[in-house]
Amino acid sequence: MLRTPLLIAGRSTACRKFVERAPFTRDLVTRFVAGTTLEEALPVVGGITADRLVTLDHLGEDVADEAQARETADVYTRLLAELGGRGLAERVEVSVKLSAVGQALPVDGRKTALDNARRICEAAEAVGTTVTLDMEDHTTTDSTLEVLRELRVDFPWVGAVLQAYLRRTEADCRDLAREGSRVRLCKGAYDEPASVAYRDKGEVDRSYVRCLKTLMNGAGYPMVASHDPRVIEIAGHLAAAANRSADSYEYQMLYGIRTEEQTALAAGGRRMRVYVPYGQEWYGYYMRRLAERPANLAFFARSLWSS
Ligand code: FDA
Repeated sequence: MLRTPLLIAGRSTACRKFVERAPFTRDLVTRFVAGTTLEEALPVVGGITADRLVTLDHLGEDVADEAQARETADVYTRLLAELGGRGLAERVEVSVKLSAVGQALPVDGRKTALDNARRICEAAEAVGTTVTLDMEDHTTTDSTLEVLRELRVDFPWVGAVLQAYLRRTEADCRDLAREGSRVRLCKGAYDEPASVAYRDKGEVDRSYVRCLKTLMNGAGYPMVASHDPRVIEIAGHLAAAANRSADSYEYQMLYGIRTEEQTALAAGGRRMRVYVPYGQEWYGYYMRRLAERPANLAFFARSLWSS
């Protein structure tokens, strides 16, 4: 019931200003976000046990001008050079939202995002790591998959996220379940209309399993991005049925969520990657995490009350 209002608040400038200026901000940030700067985030990455892989996300979305989009790409290139310099590139890749590098600009948005994403990919290739494109609301899916196709001509290791709540995603999984492709399958975090998305949790979960089956039976590299214990169990069965070795797919979870399960999967010999976001622009990301789980709202309310 609270999901839609929270997601709407996540896109409201007034709510954003209120929450960002509130004195309890620090507590909120550290629950799901590894700090507001790279200097704060790197020790968090260092604290993630070496048997877990990492994807770093420099938070930001919907940038409104070309200079800001270019600056985001610059931040990523500096971040990638830093990962290379510190010998971290083998276990740390990056995740990028195309709207942070220009996709939402009214003129030439797709081209700007492609050019900026290309620069990020060049920087990743230079240090020997990979890039995965996050997926935003359904109005961006076609454009994101087009950018993916163009990037993969020169950088065949670029991965993308697909969202099981979208009705189109089974078909997208069939298209992408090919040799060399890397697909991070998640349930989906935006407020989507019933015309394009399943709104019922049971339907989303069933779609997730159908999509995952397609990916596991295909020739690509599936990335199981979910904290759902049933999904994780089913993923293991599907991988075994498809005769997949432990290094031919991976599990992924968000920083700060089900950390014990992350540790247990890695200790059990599974490939486990933690998605670690950092940066000043944490508000939209944080509101999506609140919307996913009402219990998180209690934590938010307690912080508000005690401030
Ligand atoms: P579900 O929501 O059913 O949760 C299962 C269980 O996990 C819950 O019962 C709870 O125990 C725990 N849990 C889930 N969310 C929690 C939270 N916020 N706080 C505390 N516990 C929680 N989405 C998107 O639209 N585009 C994207 O690019 C990405 N990228 C992405 C990367 C990675 C690595 C992950 C893991 C997820 C994403 N997502 C995403 C988010 C995703 O779409 C989805 O909203 C969340 O993962 C929650 O869905 P679950 O599959 O975890 O199941």
